[in-house]
Amino acid sequence: MTYSVLIVEDEAKARGSMNRLLTADGYEVLEAPTLAKAMETLDSRLTDIVICDFNLPDGHGLDLLRRISSTRPRPQTIVVTGHGSVATAVEATHLGAVDMLEKPLDPEQLRRVVQRASEVVRLQRELDVYQRSARAEALEWIPGDSAAMQRVLHEAQRAAATAAPVLITGETGTGKEILARAIHLMGPRAGKAFFPVNCAALPTEVIESELFGHEAGAFTDASKRKPGLVEAADEGILFLDEISALRLELQAKLLRFLDDHSFRRVGGLSELHTDVQVLAATNRDLEEMTRKGEFREDLFYRLKVADLHLPPLRERKEDIPALVGLFLRKYNQRTGTSLDGATPRALEALAVHDWPGNIRELRYVVERAAMLCDSERIDLGDLPSEFHAFVPEEHVTENPSPKKKTARS
Ligand SMILES: Nc1ncnc2c1ncn2[C@@H]1O[C@H](COP(=O)(O)OP(=O)(O)OP(=O)(O)O)[C@@H](O)[C@H]1O
Ligand SMILES: [Mg+2]
Repeated sequence: MTYSVLIVEDEAKARGSMNRLLTADGYEVLEAPTLAKAMETLDSRLTDIVICDFNLPDGHGLDLLRRISSTRPRPQTIVVTGHGSVATAVEATHLGAVDMLEKPLDPEQLRRVVQRASEVVRLQRELDVYQRSARAEALEWIPGDSAAMQRVLHEAQRAAATAAPVLITGETGTGKEILARAIHLMGPRAGKAFFPVNCAALPTEVIESELFGHEAGAFTDASKRKPGLVEAADEGILFLDEISALRLELQAKLLRFLDDHSFRRVGGLSELHTDVQVLAATNRDLEEMTRKGEFREDLFYRLKVADLHLPPLRERKEDIPALVGLFLRKYNQRTGTSLDGATPRALEALAVHDWPGNIRELRYVVERAAMLCDSERIDLGDLPSEFHAFVPEEHVTENPSPKKKTARS
């Protein structure tokens, strides 16, 4: 693996000797004598490591650091301090500098420091590869050839690229949580936290302090200050499941948080900020709830900006074969079997059912059938008895294909 190092230094001699040393160590070295040239290089090519002098003819090294802190992927920066100003060095660390070098440069120290930075770059690249495959896997979990699903997935991809709140609606079992997790993995927050909170599972006061934290003494049991999930999830994602269960008082606080990312801990006075993307899900009709005064209209409209609606399975039955295939693949992986799909008449029977429990119900039916099945494909006889009625009686015979299974435990 090669790493590129950009040396930003106005003294030609110092630049040249660093270049020779690092080139000999196998780095691809780029040089910039000015701030302007450094910025130009960063714009035009991917740079892994930047070594930056503070005093440049057209500006200060800190300006470059400021600029680098918003570059993605962000290069590892090493600053060269000439006249040992502690305050500047501290500011450089805040701006993300990972190491310091003092003038006059010690060649061995330079090599060590650059070597350390390249190790971090290597780990980041590995993480990147891992995240990309996690992303692919997240999408593999959501097969959907139907036009409705294609549309939802396209919108989800767009939503993942922004920091704006997203509302995911759909009946029970349509995959709202799965979609929320996929949005997390598809977007720039993939490496950060994903915190699901079920708003229906906890009383209002508990949820408020779970979400926004509390100060010591805020209520009887609050002996210590506790940060909330919005703080813990900084730069990541908070998934508010069953958002319809959130009480009106808390809806107001959430709306304010969505508007400017600011909040106060329970019992706290100071205004805090965090960068959290909120995904919310519900299987209830929020519009209907706003009409009845059970859900704040302003919050509803705020969330509705990105509204991903997952259609019920009965409206996208063309996705059933792909879902069956997916569940069988997962089942095979888990149990070491090699089931190879379902027979046409089994698929036909699955397509007639109305699936009130949606994909969750389909998954249950497929896994149960896989357990019962003793040939290579799932057949009608492996499905629950109510499915048999969907297909003419004479078709319900034993499965003719031979047994072909491995290591079933
Ligand atoms: N698109 C999908 N692909 C594969 N499996 C899915 C998909 N959607 C849902 N499932 C399966 O169905 C189950 C239910 O999905 P999920 O929990 O995301 O539904 P939900 O919409 O959040 O339901 P609820 O409203 O009941 O909370 C999951 O455990 C998963 O096994
Ligand atoms: Mg759910």
